[in-house]
Formats: sequence, structure tokens, C-alpha cells
Amino acid sequence: MKTDIQNRQDIILLVNTFYEKVERDAIIGPIFTNVANVDWDKHLPLMYSFWCTQLLEEQSYAGNPMMVHEHLNKKHTLMQYHFDGWVRIFVETVDELFTGVKADEAKSRASQISSLMHHRMRESERP
Ligand code: HEM
Repeated sequence: MKTDIQNRQDIILLVNTFYEKVERDAIIGPIFTNVANVDWDKHLPLMYSFWCTQLLEEQSYAGNPMMVHEHLNKKHTLMQYHFDGWVRIFVETVDELFTGVKADEAKSRASQISSLMHHRMRESERP
């Protein structure tokens, strides 16, 4: 039976499962592997902290995702369909593994941050 996201172990499972799918995805996978050349051993722990901070009040993440993605957008333009793909895989992964209030919060936060990120990116491109 599925339960809600309750602790760091759950976040680790969510993040690992999500990025396994992302890496295999034909549309956004190459951005991680070919454009950003992501070091997964560094990226995954960063994402555990990010989601623990978002959902478990852990306060262990202190980065600036907006800046990181603006930089990435300069190397490879991030379009609506990239953000849609990212959110679709995230929602699918949460639903596959968890159910409950935190699971719903994870999905709504992912979608809100995605919209905000995309919006800020387009604004930063204006002359
Ligand atoms: C078009 C969709 C997206 C793509 C292609 C993408 C890609 C990436 C890549 C390649 C990195 C690693 C950069 C590096 O290590 O050099 C990264 C970092 C990160 N991403 Fe995304 N991302 C997307 C959307 C999102 C969304 C919607 C969120 C949040 C809900 C998010 C949260 C993060 C965070 C927290 C980091 C770590 C930033 C840091 O270094 O502190 N990303 N992303």
C-alpha cells in the first residue's frame, strides 16, 4: 500500500526514481547528459536536500535554482515543452510511489516552481 512522503528516505526514493526516468527521457534526458554534463553523484544529494527543504522543513538546501537554470538556458533554450516534460515525469513518479498531503504538496510545488522558473527565464531574455 502506498503511503505519504514522510522522511528523507522517501525523498531519496522519489528523487532517484525521478532522475532515472529523466535520464532515459528522449526530450529532457539529453539536456542533463549532453548539455549540462551532470555529475549525478553531486546532483542527486543536492536534490535530496532541495526536496527535504521544500517538504520536510529540513533547511539543508541553500542554492539558487533560478540562476542555475538561467545559466543552463543560455547553453540550451529551455522551452515550454521541456518544463511540461519535467513536471509530467515528476507527477507520474510521485503518483507511482506515494499518496497523501505531502505527495500533493510535492506535485503542486514542482508545478509552481516550474512556471515561475520559465516565466523568470523569458523575462531575463528581454532586451
Ligand atoms: C526544463 C526543465 C528542467 C531542466 C531541463 C532542468 C535541468 C537541470 C540541470 C541540468 C541541472 C544541473 C545543473 C548542473 O549541475 O550544472 C539542474 C539543477 C537543479 N534543478 Fe533543474 N531542470 C528543470 C526544471 C527544474 C524544476 C521545475 C525544478 C524545481 C521544481 C528544478 C530544480 C533544480 C534544482 C534545485 C537544481 C540544483 C541547483 C543548484 O545547483 O543548487 N529544476 N536542473
